[in-house]
Amino acid sequence: MSEKIIELQNLSTSFRTERGLLKAIDGVSFDVHKGEILGVVGESGCGKSVTSQTILRLYDEKYTAVYEGKVLLEGEDILQIPYKKMQDIRGRRISMVFQDALSSLNPVFTVGYQIREAIRIHQKVSKKQANKMAIEMLSLVGIPAPERRVKQYPHELSGGMRQRVMIAISLACKPRLLIADEPTTALDVTIQAQIMDLIVQLNQQLDMGVILITHDLGVVAETCSRVVVMYLGQIVEEANVEDIFDNPKHPYTLGLIQSIPRLEGDRNKELYTIKGTVPLLSQIPTGCRFAKRCPYAKERCNTQMPDLIPVSETQKVRCFRYLEGGGIRYA
Ligand SMILES: Nc1ncnc2c1ncn2[C@@H]1O[C@H](COP(=O)(O)OP(=O)(O)OP(=O)(O)O)[C@@H](O)[C@H]1O
Ligand SMILES: [Mg+2]
Repeated sequence: MSEKIIELQNLSTSFRTERGLLKAIDGVSFDVHKGEILGVVGESGCGKSVTSQTILRLYDEKYTAVYEGKVLLEGEDILQIPYKKMQDIRGRRISMVFQDALSSLNPVFTVGYQIREAIRIHQKVSKKQANKMAIEMLSLVGIPAPERRVKQYPHELSGGMRQRVMIAISLACKPRLLIADEPTTALDVTIQAQIMDLIVQLNQQLDMGVILITHDLGVVAETCSRVVVMYLGQIVEEANVEDIFDNPKHPYTLGLIQSIPRLEGDRNKELYTIKGTVPLLSQIPTGCRFAKRCPYAKERCNTQMPDLIPVSETQKVRCFRYLEGGGIRYA
């Protein structure tokens, strides 16, 4: 297997609240290899963004959050290094693209200036060199007439162009790992597809690892090689993308797959939905966290928490049903 870029080991993040610590992610472990795109999926509130923000230590450790576990970046635990050193890692070795490009770009500076700054924070190059690199980055992300675009302000660009600029900024220092947290949600469908194609193309060209966080299982099917499924702060299933779709083992994974709108088939058929909603962090149930919403739950599921168990070399599942030899079926 190729080199591991990042490995999370038993990672937990708890927020400091008036009611004490609330654990938003609990014992999350996964890794990403060079050149690989790992998908992270799950409903809203499952802890996808908290996981990605924790990797970059974006929560203040004194006032906001408590971290446990390890984040190994090319073997080094970056949760333990002095906080100041994290600034070197952010942007240079790990970059992040957020959902909302418009609010992430500064309206008062040209896009060229913003890319140059991103380059110059981490590399000692002249302004002129940085400008040349900025133009190269814009052309790398598929922006036509980059020499002209570097001189423009964010409001002069369309939403899709701005998201491309954000990606150019994230890639300016050729990071080893790109974390893309819902990078296309705010864009319309054709632009979404273009941005995703771009991420795949750059992932291959630059051989970087990518963590792609998304609600959209269709996007996962087209771009990711492996997937982790999160539910209420925990991983409930991890598998190759083929197994996630053809051979899901966790009832939650199956529920997510069945909730994908399809073009073919009976259009009048009501879309499947997983009953209920993700509980609040202050109301995490004992036992399996998904039990209350699970069509297969038995008594044991309400009282005991299943472990995440390997079921093959490439697949893991957190479910008693599977471990007891039972299967799951489409509704
Ligand atoms: N700063 C914070 N303080 C307290 N709780 C927080 C904080 N940030 C997130 N949470 C809680 O942590 C849980 C996980 O949130 P997170 O943003 O990771 O969800 P998500 O999976 O990214 O959802 P979405 O798909 O909506 O982006 C939620 O219950 C959320 O309310
Ligand atoms: Mg999120």
